[in-house]
Amino acid sequence: MKFKLLIALLGFGILLAGCKEQHGNEGAGNVETSNAVSNEPIQPIQPAIVKNPKYVELGKKLYFDTRLSKSGFISCNSCHNLSMGGTDNLKTSIGHNWSKGPINSPTVLNSSLNLAQFWDGRAADLKEQAGGPIANPGEMAFTHELAVDMLKSIPGYVTEFNDAFGGREITINEVTLAIAAFEETLVTPNARFDQWLKGNKNALNKTELAGYQLFKSSGCISCHNGMNIGGNSYQKMGLVAPYKATSPAQGRSAVTGNDADRFNFKVPTLRNIELTYPYFHDGEAATLTKAVDTMGRLQLGRKFTTEENAQIVAFLKTLTGEQPSFKLPQLPPSSDATRRPQPFSD
Ligand code: HEC
Ligand code: HEC
Repeated sequence: MKFKLLIALLGFGILLAGCKEQHGNEGAGNVETSNAVSNEPIQPIQPAIVKNPKYVELGKKLYFDTRLSKSGFISCNSCHNLSMGGTDNLKTSIGHNWSKGPINSPTVLNSSLNLAQFWDGRAADLKEQAGGPIANPGEMAFTHELAVDMLKSIPGYVTEFNDAFGGREITINEVTLAIAAFEETLVTPNARFDQWLKGNKNALNKTELAGYQLFKSSGCISCHNGMNIGGNSYQKMGLVAPYKATSPAQGRSAVTGNDADRFNFKVPTLRNIELTYPYFHDGEAATLTKAVDTMGRLQLGRKFTTEENAQIVAFLKTLTGEQPSFKLPQLPPSSDATRRPQPFSD
């Protein structure tokens, strides 16, 4: 008995020493956990570090401002609703004039952690991405010039842009810088799974843990890994058996022009996946059960039993992190000179 205790204490001491070397003085509370974290193919996400609070506050307003659309009705939040996991929960989005979008709207949550933006990765980063929807005829249907004119006609915005950008002229560059800065704050740390990774072994129950083991042992982890549990590579949808999509999207080949990249998509993040239904680029999987079944069959050639499927789904539901929380921004009012919305004209 005493001997065992001694060994345990000794072991603890060695661990402690090892950890001190790696992590400096993080405190003994992290000791057992640091090793666990480094051994897993998924890492916890860190809270956002705000580099420029003025950009963030301005970007937050722009994110909610429907006046960046021709109709005056659509904002970024229309399709990436921050009350709904940063998505619209629709198969494909509804754009200007109720037009049917070609593809499912991915979440903006944790999108700063992705290797590129869009399903096919055609935008390098959030700043480049943010200019797209404003001028996309099927989304906000505006132009960058009209958007900038609109902002310049609103005294409240002029003051705030001046303050944030030191009097620099407002162009689409400043608009997208601010939106991207806000989006960088939309990370969701402290999911139950992250708590488990950090050493709180009670954070997951047996079923959820079995789901994680299966997620690793069956091979899901080969594509969905890293901090965002995805978002870091392009992979073929329908690796083992073909996927019959209802969307015309061709995937990565549309960007590279290389036929071998056809149907390669950016692997989506699985963080907050319980909130971001429906699933896949065409939104055809309404439930997680269905998505997991499809992934098993088409990506791994494996048909999960009902119990296995339920275990993986239980694990996936532990990936919901703390959702963005802030005071709703109050948008500066239009002036007499501000262009009026055109919700019903083409
Ligand atoms: C009409 C709906 C709609 C609106 C409005 C809209 N988006 Fe999107 N967004 C989408 C769709 C659909 C996609 C996926 C398009 C694709 O991959 O081809 C997307 C993709 C994105 C992505 C890429 C995420 C990823 O992981 O690849 C980001 C970031 C994003 N939008 C941010 C914004 C911002 C910022 C705005 C406002 C300026 C905005 N969106 C306005 C529908 C919309
Ligand atoms: C070979 C790489 C690969 C493997 C293995 C893989 N996935 Fe995926 N996963 C993808 C890609 C690519 C997509 C996007 C496909 C699309 O939308 O057309 C995806 C999409 C998903 C989605 C939907 C995400 C969303 O937001 O729409 C879920 C859920 C998912 N995978 C879970 C799993 C699970 C569970 C496993 C293991 C059974 C698994 N994946 C195995 C590459 C993979």
